[in-house]
Amino acid sequence: MIHQHSFAYEEWPDELALSEADRSLLHEARQVTALAYAPYSNFWVGAAARLVSGALVTGTNQENASYPVGSCAERVLLGHAAVRFPNDPIDTLAISYHPKDKSSQVPLYPCGMCRQALLEQEIRFERPIRLILSGMEGPVHIVGSAESLLPFAFTGKGLRS
Ligand code: THU
Repeated sequence: MIHQHSFAYEEWPDELALSEADRSLLHEARQVTALAYAPYSNFWVGAAARLVSGALVTGTNQENASYPVGSCAERVLLGHAAVRFPNDPIDTLAISYHPKDKSSQVPLYPCGMCRQALLEQEIRFERPIRLILSGMEGPVHIVGSAESLLPFAFTGKGLRS
């Protein structure tokens, strides 16, 4: 038997199509790229999340001379949120990036490790995280949840089965 898996996402030509709240979150993610520490890849990533309470948290990638020690912006953000707002789930997370001294026009999707980390929060809080993905300019993708980016994921359920 053959099964098929699909997922839907929104695509907009630019941030002008977004609601005020989403536009301002994407603006924050774009701005915060300037705080990345990325001397090895020169690939500056910024993430900004609006929590259910309305609070805002941000994260940027933090690299290390021992490359695997570095962290992506998304997981830095999750640590930031967990410490400052431990019981406040993420409603929407915007991600942007740019290579050093350049702009960017293609939406950046979170890496596999970050998809897994985001999914853990969705399971923990029983709430999807909306993702707004865009470069420093140009098209914006909106994905309804991290789960939709990680089909057949390994979760705590798998650990107990
Ligand atoms: N990176 C992120 O921060 N988020 C992503 O979703 C993809 C990759 C970072 C990790 C590393 O510092 C640099 O981008 C190049 O991979």
